[in-house]
Amino acid sequence: MDGPTLSPDQLAAIHAEAFDAPWEKAAFAQLLDSTGVSVLGDERGFILTRTVADEAEILTIGVRPACRRQGLARHLVEQAIVATRILGAQRMFLEVAENNLAAIGLYRACGFEQVGLRKNYYTRTDGSLEHALVMVLNFLQ
Ligand SMILES: CC(C)(COP(=O)(O)OP(=O)(O)OC[C@H]1O[C@@H](n2cnc3c(N)ncnc32)[C@H](O)[C@@H]1OP(=O)(O)O)[C@@H](O)C(=O)NCCC(=O)NCCS
Repeated sequence: MDGPTLSPDQLAAIHAEAFDAPWEKAAFAQLLDSTGVSVLGDERGFILTRTVADEAEILTIGVRPACRRQGLARHLVEQAIVATRILGAQRMFLEVAENNLAAIGLYRACGFEQVGLRKNYYTRTDGSLEHALVMVLNFLQ
């Protein structure tokens, strides 16, 4: 997992394979320039987090379809927990679409629990709306 940092181009390419609604390269470039934002991963997949004071947030995580179910995302989440704790985080939040069973399974396997529901949070490419679960993992002291 160590190695050269992923460029905005590489992040956009992986993201486009992993998601129906890909983010632009420029969006990744802007995020990488933002305070508290970190990326971990390699050409198979990555995780992007933002740490502000004692709270970390998973902005996005994606693994190329050919590389799934090999423990990569779990490893990325575990690495992100270590990295954001070093930056001062005591807990990690995320939002996930309520029908994204793979991601919800991943987060539960990593110890996250649902603490809220954001109604109609996501707008799909077909215009339909979807609720988001808010999940949190409190790091052990
Ligand atoms: C969600 C995602 C990142 C998981 O990546 P992955 O590398 O395949 O996940 P892992 O192999 O580390 O899986 C860890 C655990 O998560 C759960 N999990 C992963 N994929 C799952 C699936 N398709 N169905 C149910 N549970 C799943 C399992 O508990 C799994 O452990 P196991 O393989 O021992 O059963 C990947 O499916 C992906 O990129 N999806 C599209 C992008 C996305 O939805 N990102 C999340 C946005 S909030």
